Amino acid sequence: MTESVIDIEEVRKRYRGGVEALRGVSLKVPKGQIFGLLGPNGAGKSTLVKILLSIVRATECRGEMLGKPVGDKATLARVGYLPEHARFPEYLKGEEVIRYVAGLSGVPRADAIKRSGELLEVVGMKDWANRRMGSYSKGMKQRIGLAQALVNDPEIVFLDEPTDGVDPKGRLEMRAVLKMMKEQGRTVFINSHLLGELEMICDSVAIMDQGKIVRQGTIADLTEKTRHYEIRVQEALGNMLLEKLKPHGVECQGELLTMYQQDAGRVQPVIDILRADGVTITSMSEARQSLEELFMETVGSHGPGAAMPPKIKQKENV
Ligand SMILES: Nc1ncnc2c1ncn2[C@@H]1O[C@H](COP(=O)(O)OP(=O)(O)O)[C@@H](O)[C@H]1O
Ligand SMILES: [Mg+2]
Repeated sequence: MTESVIDIEEVRKRYRGGVEALRGVSLKVPKGQIFGLLGPNGAGKSTLVKILLSIVRATECRGEMLGKPVGDKATLARVGYLPEHARFPEYLKGEEVIRYVAGLSGVPRADAIKRSGELLEVVGMKDWANRRMGSYSKGMKQRIGLAQALVNDPEIVFLDEPTDGVDPKGRLEMRAVLKMMKEQGRTVFINSHLLGELEMICDSVAIMDQGKIVRQGTIADLTEKTRHYEIRVQEALGNMLLEKLKPHGVECQGELLTMYQQDAGRVQPVIDILRADGVTITSMSEARQSLEELFMETVGSHGPGAAMPPKIKQKENV
């Protein structure tokens, strides 16, 4: 069995004023993975991370992080954190931010100097290290944000909405840094409402909505049930042929035929019928719902501010 670095059960949080931000969250995060906690704004993602980091006190919490009860102070030295909407003083230079955070984290000065140089290199900010934060683009600020989250050589790195407000080029660069964190053996825990981002890099995800985890698993597992086959033909089929295909569960839209089932064997008779009728098949492919479509189906459209990029389907040829 895979080792979990986070294993929590029935975590609840009611804020003063009565908002129930978490309503019984159970979650296991496998070691060494890039894990994505997805959900619309207000789902409770930041609250959960803040509880794990002892910034917010849970109303109820059972479970462990890195083998110690949640809330254990010594464990916090083994995790890194880039908060949501993180802002560092604009008058500090990039390198100074990293050293400043190193100081706060209790990293010895000599180590901090060595490490800040290495980290600036890792996030591609070496040439900018002596410029002030105020002169950086949003993407550059976030790269400094990633670097400071690694300053104590953490086993788990929490990144709360790290790509928010970062342009596509910046996001691409950020993904490379996240992959590298994983290659170094760290667990990366990302909160995000931007699904397209996560689909590309996460090993597994949990979908959170209104304070609860509604789905959890690898992206392949979660989308497996939605696997189906699509056949394209050169010309739209006649009614007689459509009648013959109906018992095989074929849905037809112009030149596209869709079969909502997961067994490739059951597609073969359909191909036989088409070929016997002289139909030219131009392509056949296996398709799945994208994570985004699955998410929309799971949480519906009530999520305020759940910004959804256009639909993209993952396809694999068979
Ligand atoms: N300090 C707070 N006091 C009261 N309510 C809060 C506080 N922080 C967050 N909330 C509420 O808790 C819910 C979950 O918020 P949050 O954890 O920030 O969600 P997410 O990170 O998924 O957007 C929201 O309804 C939010 O308004
Ligand atoms: Mg948040």
